[in-house]
Amino acid sequence: MVNTKVTLSGITLDNPVIPASGTFGYGKEFAELYDINILGSFSFKGTTKEPRFGNPTPRIAECSVGMINSVGLQNPGIDHVMEHEIPEMKKIFKKPVIANIGGFSLEEYAYCAQRISEADNVGIIEVNISCPNVHGGGIGFGTDAAQAASVTKAVRAVTKKPVYMKLTPNVTNIVEIAKACEAEGADGISLINTMMGMRIDLKRKKPVIANKMGGFSGPAIFPVALRMVYQVYEAVKLPIIGMGGVSCAEDVIEMMLAGATGVQIGAANLVDPWAARDIVLALPDVMEKYGISDLASIIGAAH
Ligand code: FUM
Repeated sequence: MVNTKVTLSGITLDNPVIPASGTFGYGKEFAELYDINILGSFSFKGTTKEPRFGNPTPRIAECSVGMINSVGLQNPGIDHVMEHEIPEMKKIFKKPVIANIGGFSLEEYAYCAQRISEADNVGIIEVNISCPNVHGGGIGFGTDAAQAASVTKAVRAVTKKPVYMKLTPNVTNIVEIAKACEAEGADGISLINTMMGMRIDLKRKKPVIANKMGGFSGPAIFPVALRMVYQVYEAVKLPIIGMGGVSCAEDVIEMMLAGATGVQIGAANLVDPWAARDIVLALPDVMEKYGISDLASIIGAAH
């Protein structure tokens, strides 16, 4: 019998498997397919102060080993989430959830963090400073250490919940950004968000995506994500939620060896809605295969 439990900022999860924000909605659609309580947790759709319609379509471009999205933080806004989605989530998921919030100003990040803190089923606030698909927010904050620090400070000031900053890989030095977040009181680091990419339609001879570029995710980015988790683990003392192209139980273990405590599953959910559940189910056998009895004991073991 193996032990798959891990602990993030005092919250013990049955396993490290966490569907990533933007690939799991608010959990409802997946709860119709299987009992989502098998998951460690899930990170719900990035929520902003105002409702957002998102970017024009097409928003998705297929690639041979992944996909590009440019959704544009479509979401119903924090009021709707507090009034409708949080109560619905409590009915279908009996564990702490991860609240992913986005913003276009320090005030907006702080407002969303403060509001979402009122939800007692929110265990961790994941602050998205890494969305590549919107102008004037998201990645703008995540590509500059001083701005990443400012967002961390603004959110830290308004909540007692653990604050995890979600970083973009579209930087030269991700360690510098992670350290800036740590210095301003972040409780953890989530990485990586998608990598900027594009496709061109040969018939139209124009970009496939209406917004021209988008965030590339899927198995192709796994080695990049793993490398960045490894680097950040060496540089900060904070727990890490690793993500980026994770698509099987072996990938989860590799991420943990690099330094992740929790592991998010993103694009794989969009290819196969049962992917996260199947990874949870596969974990014990894969652990036994590699002689691992306690998953938490391997965090950072590759260093
Ligand atoms: O476009 C989007 O909603 C993507 C968000 C993200 O990658 O953070």
